[in-house]
Amino acid sequence: MKPLPIQNSWVLVTGASTGLGRASALRLAASYQAKPLIVGRRLDNLRELQSEIGERFNVPCEIIVADQREIEGREKIAAKVIELKVNAAFLAAGLTSAGPFDASRADAYAEVIGTNVAGFTDLLARLIAIFRQQPFESSIIAVSSLAGETSVPFQAVYGASKAYVSTLMRALSVELAGTGVSVGSFAPGGIDTDMAALSDLKWGKFGLMDVDRCATLAVDALVHRRSFAIPGMGNRLTYLASRALPRSLMSRLAALPYRRPQ
Ligand SMILES: NC(=O)c1ccc[n+]([C@@H]2O[C@H](COP(=O)([O-])OP(=O)(O)OC[C@H]3O[C@@H](n4cnc5c(N)ncnc54)[C@H](OP(=O)(O)O)[C@@H]3O)[C@@H](O)[C@H]2O)c1
Repeated sequence: MKPLPIQNSWVLVTGASTGLGRASALRLAASYQAKPLIVGRRLDNLRELQSEIGERFNVPCEIIVADQREIEGREKIAAKVIELKVNAAFLAAGLTSAGPFDASRADAYAEVIGTNVAGFTDLLARLIAIFRQQPFESSIIAVSSLAGETSVPFQAVYGASKAYVSTLMRALSVELAGTGVSVGSFAPGGIDTDMAALSDLKWGKFGLMDVDRCATLAVDALVHRRSFAIPGMGNRLTYLASRALPRSLMSRLAALPYRRPQ
């Protein structure tokens, strides 16, 4: 498939206030002069990113403060996507809940599922409907995770939410073939971001991918309209192992980086 022309176009980036979303908005502006429409709940972070994009790349950038769990937030995003004639979307908003599966964490699980699954699905459906009406081609990449391929003990609800994202995007990439709307998922292993810092990893930053490198590969997946992309050789080998080895063994291996409860 031909790369999507995104030079000087508006590109929606959710989860842009930190981490992979932030780094991808910068990469889009730096490499393509694409104009990021950045979304998150933390206005200060988004304002700082907007200034950086303007100062470093002289590229316009617009902000939406929205909670992906709330219908009002998703409506705000959809309205702006129509107004600006956005033709690509990088959906990085997501959160985790680390620790043993336990009823005391029910609120955290509701937040993970509300953001990564329910809110994500509704936003995606709105974006696809908008993009299908537009007279030009478009691309959507949702950030899933290797955690969705292997399952992850001690981040089990998060891993299950990412398996949902991967499975959904795989199915939709087939459903939407020939419509001009390409969709896919991007499945990193650990990335050196706030989320990894919150994941209670035994080995600190060991094995985590640099966020700017990951963002470069993520933007490449968006532009080249990949239906599924895994950044980095180590992650691709892990993925291949997850297809070849018994799933129970992969789940036990996936638990190794996590501190176990005493
Ligand atoms: N870090 C890793 O090791 C890793 C590995 C594989 C996949 N991923 C995935 O990569 C994506 C980016 O994560 P990251 O590592 O960059 O972590 P991060 O720095 O914590 O970024 C998460 C982003 O999601 C936004 N977000 C969270 N809940 C939201 C909500 N309810 N509504 C709107 N925005 C919300 C946050 O912004 P606000 O708080 O301002 O709303 C933040 O910008 C996530 O989907 C994550 O699952 C991460």
